[in-house]
Amino acid sequence: MRERVIFTPSLLSADFSNLREEIEKCQIAGAQRLHVDVMDGHFVPNITIGPVVVESIRKVTSLALDIHLMIERPEQYIDDFINAGADLITFHVEEYRGEKSLPPEEGVYPRVTIDMNEERVKEVIVRIKTKGVRAAVALNPPTPFFVHNLSDELDEILIMTVNPGFGGQRLIPSTLDKVKKARSLFQKDIKVDGGVNEDTIKELVEAGANILVVGSYFFHSKDPKEALNRLSSLARGASN
Ligand code: DX5
Ligand code: ZN
Repeated sequence: MRERVIFTPSLLSADFSNLREEIEKCQIAGAQRLHVDVMDGHFVPNITIGPVVVESIRKVTSLALDIHLMIERPEQYIDDFINAGADLITFHVEEYRGEKSLPPEEGVYPRVTIDMNEERVKEVIVRIKTKGVRAAVALNPPTPFFVHNLSDELDEILIMTVNPGFGGQRLIPSTLDKVKKARSLFQKDIKVDGGVNEDTIKELVEAGANILVVGSYFFHSKDPKEALNRLSSLARGASN
């Protein structure tokens, strides 16, 4: 197992009428970060929260906030999320298609791209990092792994292990190969998001993931602290 395995509860599965207590639950369970899913109803067919709620979350916790932007034109909103208290911003490369990719068709989900406009992606990363915030790019399940050229600029990479937009889905098995490929080409943190639970943790860690976003498995368990302990001990038992 890689030395540093980090668990990040995803607030998407939390009770939003009781967010302060839900966040305390994460702290008590020993989570090192919180994962906040931002969706705009365009990049994904679901809508969640924006900077106003992130600002409120910031007020009640000192845990690092990982803001996962599942939105179109993320560059337009980065400053708002940084001002709201983000510690890390993760944005999708599907929003920065290269010359080989066709423009997205309205309503086609999930978004996919086969290449990226590297210059634009770098601009967004620089924009995040000059404000002292960490930067990551995310890849949807059908998007191939091609971001290793950005190893110097990026702090971490997010490999989506389900189609983005909803909690409680099953991990898509073919994404494990992409995690393996990413690990062979990228030495920094590799984060996975979607379908992380006691049945999938071992193969995810063995494939090379070391930051695990956990939504429904954490918040829907009777004892979330115990749930994280269990994932942690299964991760320790993974062979790599
Ligand atoms: C899905 C989100 C995830 C989601 C994961 O688009 O990005 O962060 O909360 O939920 P689970 O762990 O339930 O698959
Ligand atoms: Zn997420």
